[in-house]
Amino acid sequence: MSAKIIDGKKLAKEIKHDLAKKVMQLKQRSIIPGLAVIIVGEDPASKIYVKRKKCDCEEIGIESFEYSLPEDTSEKDLIELIERLNVDSKVNGILVQLPLPKHIKEDKVICSINPGKDADCFHPMNVGRLSTGRPLFLPCTPAGIIELIRTTGIDISGKECVVVGRSNIVGKPTAMMLLALNGTVTVCHSKTKNLKEVCKRGDIVVAAIGKAEFINENYIKEGAIVIDVGMNRLDDRLVGDVEFESVSKVASFITPVPGGVGPMTRAILMKNTVLAAILQNESII
Ligand code: GUN
Repeated sequence: MSAKIIDGKKLAKEIKHDLAKKVMQLKQRSIIPGLAVIIVGEDPASKIYVKRKKCDCEEIGIESFEYSLPEDTSEKDLIELIERLNVDSKVNGILVQLPLPKHIKEDKVICSINPGKDADCFHPMNVGRLSTGRPLFLPCTPAGIIELIRTTGIDISGKECVVVGRSNIVGKPTAMMLLALNGTVTVCHSKTKNLKEVCKRGDIVVAAIGKAEFINENYIKEGAIVIDVGMNRLDDRLVGDVEFESVSKVASFITPVPGGVGPMTRAILMKNTVLAAILQNESII
């Protein structure tokens, strides 16, 4: 078998095209969606991600407000900035790029974001809403993954879904979303025994472990859908958590890196920002 490639870049472009039309309509009602993006420090990968988010905003007509803060910014100063943005009517969405420097507690910062402006869907209130089946926003990477799976035409209901990785950003919320769509979900992690065998049960495998080309053809059942969330540097190449060449030979569908999950994460972020602008202007939140 030779897997079909799921084109995340193309799908993200379609979503952004629809959003641009929606933003034009909002502007006729004098509503300009705005996203504040905060980055602390000089992490090169984070800087690239933030730059791409800014480009997406420009493409769609969303106003972006960038705050590049020095590495030694205190937790108090960061939270004070967030509190100002929480009540700024021009700002509909707030995103704090992770990871933060070690001296800043991520959970405290996330909790300081107004849940109605939580474009990342990281706030415990929004995580709780997702877990109980009444989400306001959708978490960006997991929602992007679901959209990518949808393009295959295969129904998630009743399928064995194996999520490798249990992070708050990807693994856990992806499992929640697959479960809400009636998947039979297994979440694996570094302590999982017989990882290969567990992965091989998956009709759908989501790899989010952060280890370059860790998942090879021995982990994948013939005909499975494989979603690669990884972004790793290997000998100057950008590679995922999946060994693309070998897994392509057994999977039915596979996402590439780059051009798979990454663009979809940003497209959903834009969608959340537009939704936040609508909800705030209709005084729903
Ligand atoms: N760092 C890696 N991925 C993400 C993301 O989706 N959102 C934020 N805020 N930081 C990240």
